[in-house]
Amino acid sequence: MTENFADASVRIRPAAADDLPAIVAMRDRLNELERAGCAHAAIQPFTLEQFTTHWSPSMTNPNFCWRIVEAAGRPVGFGLIYLLAPQLPRSAAYIHWAYLEENQRRRGAGRLLLDELLAWARSKGASRVELQFIDGNQAAERFWTKMGFRGFARKCVRYLE
Ligand SMILES: CC(C)(COP(=O)(O)OP(=O)(O)OC[C@H]1O[C@@H](n2cnc3c(N)ncnc32)[C@H](O)[C@@H]1OP(=O)(O)O)[C@@H](O)C(=O)NCCC(=O)NCCS
Repeated sequence: MTENFADASVRIRPAAADDLPAIVAMRDRLNELERAGCAHAAIQPFTLEQFTTHWSPSMTNPNFCWRIVEAAGRPVGFGLIYLLAPQLPRSAAYIHWAYLEENQRRRGAGRLLLDELLAWARSKGASRVELQFIDGNQAAERFWTKMGFRGFARKCVRYLE
């Protein structure tokens, strides 16, 4: 628990298939925020059915760690980290998502979620953790910088239609 964390009812738990509708709804809100910062960002829209087909097998894969942030028993955030090359020793881990609903931000829950994801990566023997955030997402840039992440590449897209 971080020092500035206000709401003792917040907890982090593993995600399960039942959480998929809430996760997809939160991902939609994240994508909206991201497109506002960068309209050409390469973001793939997913229906619940498409998302479930694509992602639900990973929920029982030991190389993936899905987490739900709950407040007063309701999902208010989620995170996903996984090993990039689990067949190799000391694989990198990749944070694919870290999201909190707007009214839950700046109260320490992001740090709490990250601590959980990093603890999982360490427990898997990962040598480092990588992530990306969309241009224009200043809150993400400030948060990740504060948490010790440093940029090392640029991501680009050229659409084919
Ligand atoms: C990014 C996110 C997960 C951070 O979670 P959070 O709970 O708001 O962050 P915390 O309260 O734990 O902040 C930890 C520190 O990060 C920095 N920080 C976080 N958000 C910040 C912001 N909007 N502006 C400036 N600094 C910020 C601060 O130094 C903060 O410490 P402080 O509050 O004591 O000053 C959250 O803002 C979020 O879900 N944003 C929308 C989704 C998103 O963009 N996710 C990342 C996609 S890659």
